[in-house]
Amino acid sequence: MRRYSRGESLPHQDRHDFANLTRLSPYVWRYSKRVSIALFCLLLGKFATVCTPLILKEIIDSLDQETQQQLTANLAASIPLALLVGYGALRLASGLFNEMRDILFSRVRYSAMHQMAVDVLAHLHKLSLRFHLERNTGGISRDLERGTRSLASVLNLLVFSILPTIAEFLLVGGILLYRYDSMLMVVIIGTVFCYVVFTLSMSQWRMGFRHEMNKLDSAANGRAVDSLLNYETVKYFNNESLEVSNYNEQLTLWGAAGQKTQVSLSALNFGQGAIVTVGVTIIMIIAAMDVAAGEITIGDLVLINAMMLQLFIPLSILGSVYRSLQYSLADMDLVIKLLERDPEIQDVEGASALQVTKGAVAFNRVSFHYNDDRPILRDVSFSIAPGSKVAVVGPSGSGKSTLVRLLFRFYEVSAGSISIDDQTITRCTQESLRRVIGIVPQDTVLFNNTIRYNIGYANPQANDDAILAAAASADLSSLIERLPEGLDTVVGERGLKLSGGEKQRLAIARVILKAPQIIVFDEATSSLDSRSEQAILHALNNVSKNATTLVIAHRLSTIIDADQIVVLDDGQVTETGTHSELLSRNGLYRKLWEMQQSDSG
Ligand SMILES: Nc1ncnc2c1ncn2[C@@H]1O[C@H](COP(=O)(O)OP(=O)(O)OP(=O)(O)O)[C@@H](O)[C@H]1O
Ligand SMILES: [Mg+2]
Repeated sequence: MRRYSRGESLPHQDRHDFANLTRLSPYVWRYSKRVSIALFCLLLGKFATVCTPLILKEIIDSLDQETQQQLTANLAASIPLALLVGYGALRLASGLFNEMRDILFSRVRYSAMHQMAVDVLAHLHKLSLRFHLERNTGGISRDLERGTRSLASVLNLLVFSILPTIAEFLLVGGILLYRYDSMLMVVIIGTVFCYVVFTLSMSQWRMGFRHEMNKLDSAANGRAVDSLLNYETVKYFNNESLEVSNYNEQLTLWGAAGQKTQVSLSALNFGQGAIVTVGVTIIMIIAAMDVAAGEITIGDLVLINAMMLQLFIPLSILGSVYRSLQYSLADMDLVIKLLERDPEIQDVEGASALQVTKGAVAFNRVSFHYNDDRPILRDVSFSIAPGSKVAVVGPSGSGKSTLVRLLFRFYEVSAGSISIDDQTITRCTQESLRRVIGIVPQDTVLFNNTIRYNIGYANPQANDDAILAAAASADLSSLIERLPEGLDTVVGERGLKLSGGEKQRLAIARVILKAPQIIVFDEATSSLDSRSEQAILHALNNVSKNATTLVIAHRLSTIIDADQIVVLDDGQVTETGTHSELLSRNGLYRKLWEMQQSDSG
């Protein structure tokens, strides 16, 4: 259904679509040698096909001469054996070259699809978080699939329908022009021209009926489903017959549209046939007159007739080729638009790799908004001394996780700057920045793969010993021992087969394995019970002993030991200090602390 409803805007898109053809060329030209050979085979194949009638003509002419001369002596010799064998050989050659073309070309086609799919995925990974939060995963994967498929079908149409027809047309035209009356050529060109114009305009016109039919079909379907979804409502109001008659009405319209589609198809077919017949008839009349005048032989007449048929059979699929080409190009347009989308976050020109020697992190008067109309962070400044631990606390929605996203440079700050060891992160490569920071995120999402894979993701070279050691530090050993498949247990889509706490511990194990210089814990222990939390906190302290640490926590009891605590309220820093300093200050921190104490008490 979608396919056709998208097609509705096609007429307005034509120019873009055909411009997209040029965007394809890089994918194909990487194999220019192969493509050239394939095209050469195509030419040879077509040449053989076109030459077959030439031999047929010779055969007929020689038989014709023999009968005229009433030669009786040697009947066997009178059959032009060489020509007959040649005839067979040419047919064979035409088949062979066509298959060779297909084999050579299939590699190009698959490689082009493969390359485009890889490019699209790579590009999707380059696009920023903002894009990914707004997109719809189902839609994107459909675009990806559609794009690669349309690439293949455009190439197929070009190589298997359009180019062969053009080659054939030129060859036939060349032969006829060279050997016969130029009037023949004029008539052929006229016929083909009428044929193409007629087919393309009819196809365009028919497309409207098709869309209408599809629309009515979806509408009827929608009504039926809606009436069933509202089953109870229909019963409450005794409206079964109303629903059925509504459905019936839609289907009547659909049937009428279907009828129109069929009538237009018949008109198209008949029109095409009529044009061809008129053309071929005129050509045959000219040829017959030439035969009568003794200018050409009967063999020539057969040759011309055979060539005409050869030419018009492939032309008859022109309408459907044209339509498929349009659909494919429209599909491809979506993917090309995607590939042309510039990533929001890009390395500046000549960006250098971040050099981390000490691991000092500083937020300097950082302001940020996701959307212009709503500031999230305002003038936030704080710094984390090398190897120290700073905690950020504050009400939900105050912008704590946003700070982390900015540190990872998923978004650019709107004002101010973030620096690591006095290097502004916007001037460094994203790769070098992300390499030195590790995070245990607020919501851990896992790959639908084994526990080994998910822990080892931090360092794909790590061996099982290293992975088990990291798992042990994250208090995961007992879980892995209890699982029948151990490290090979598959965690399910997004990690849904693990509990929240297990997922969180897995994320911790991952960071332990990465052993970064700067570590961020965003509510790293929020899903854990108090006992495992104590165990993990101990592990975390071990991991972060030598690293610069940023901890975001709701439960203030977990950050009492922080070197500094930053209180964030509505995107602004309201207080900073150590736990005891903040308690003595009687501000938001003290209020939060007292609330949590009374809760747990
Ligand atoms: N992609 C986004 N687009 C627009 N607004 C967003 C986006 N992500 C977060 N926000 C908004 O930014 C504000 C801060 O979000 P953030 O995730 O930083 O809060 P938080 O302090 O980590 O809260 P919590 O303690 O609940 O995790 C929230 O009000 C949220 O609605
Ligand atoms: Mg958060």
